[in-house]
Amino acid sequence: MTARVVFCGQALLDHSFFLDEIDAPPSKMTARRYTPGVGGMGAHAAIAAVRLGAQAVFLGRVGDDANGEAVRDALHAEGVDVTHLRRMPGARTALSAVMIDKRGERAIVTWRGEGFSPDAEWLPLEALDGAGAVLSDPRWPEGAARIFAAARARGIAAVMDGEKSEARLLMDVVPRADHVIFAERGLSVWAPATQTLAALRRALESGPLRLAAVTRGERSTLWLTPGDTALRETPSFPVDAHNTTGAGDVFHGAYAVAVAEGQPIADALRFAAAAGALRARDGETPNRAMVDAMLAGSP
Ligand SMILES: Nc1ncnc2c1ncn2[C@@H]1O[C@H](COP(=O)(O)OP(=O)(O)OP(=O)(O)O)[C@@H](O)[C@H]1O
Ligand SMILES: [Mg+2]
Repeated sequence: MTARVVFCGQALLDHSFFLDEIDAPPSKMTARRYTPGVGGMGAHAAIAAVRLGAQAVFLGRVGDDANGEAVRDALHAEGVDVTHLRRMPGARTALSAVMIDKRGERAIVTWRGEGFSPDAEWLPLEALDGAGAVLSDPRWPEGAARIFAAARARGIAAVMDGEKSEARLLMDVVPRADHVIFAERGLSVWAPATQTLAALRRALESGPLRLAAVTRGERSTLWLTPGDTALRETPSFPVDAHNTTGAGDVFHGAYAVAVAEGQPIADALRFAAAAGALRARDGETPNRAMVDAMLAGSP
């Protein structure tokens, strides 16, 4: 049966500029290539879920401007259910400028848009019916709180992308989730100047959660579940990375799909690591066959 996953959070327009080097300012740079596309943690993750064979529903907001229409159309073209992607009257859609150098490393400027009210009461909670997991990022904390509460009430796994955000937002949202997977930048906001084991334990106990983890790019993912006395580690798959933009988002989307399919946590993290590595290698979100081949050890 196809897993259903509900995504809540950021959807924006990414403008990607491919350069040889990103120079320190003052500078003028010329891009070798430019591509516009859907960006935002939740939106990237939803697209990954569809490519991995799940049914993905996106709950979130864009503006009623041309960029909002472009984001909605692009998500729809990817097969994401955008019935409940609201175009907020008078709001301006968020966007990012992404600069990617020849090693695949990037600098990102994000503008979070304007004119969005925090109100999350309109979110149609019936969209959660039949879902195996929900995933939210921290960009719309009121939305995340409402979705996570509804997921808990229904016994649906609530997964959070613990990206860098204001500390008070992480403090509020992390304890409401079941599985929190931090980016390194997010974990250091959650628990500044704290060793990884203690920082993840603090997250685990705050819920209590079923999983607290931190992704570390090409190195590995470190994680903790209730009762663990030491960190556990899921290695990253070695790839020749060309564009690491969105690897974390794809990792989270894949993890949510795996959890919705009933995979145990260790398997779900390995599945996610394969999807994240392929995204870093190609700069494209992989499909299920590619991830399965990676897991089976073929390139
Ligand atoms: N260069 C890479 N090689 C192999 N795997 C990678 C690479 N970069 C990312 N991954 C995989 O994706 C996961 C998430 O990446 P990372 O920790 O960079 O996310 P992030 O910091 O949230 O970045 P972002 O959300 O901006 O993509 C890693 O734990 C790893 O499994
Ligand atoms: Mg991330």
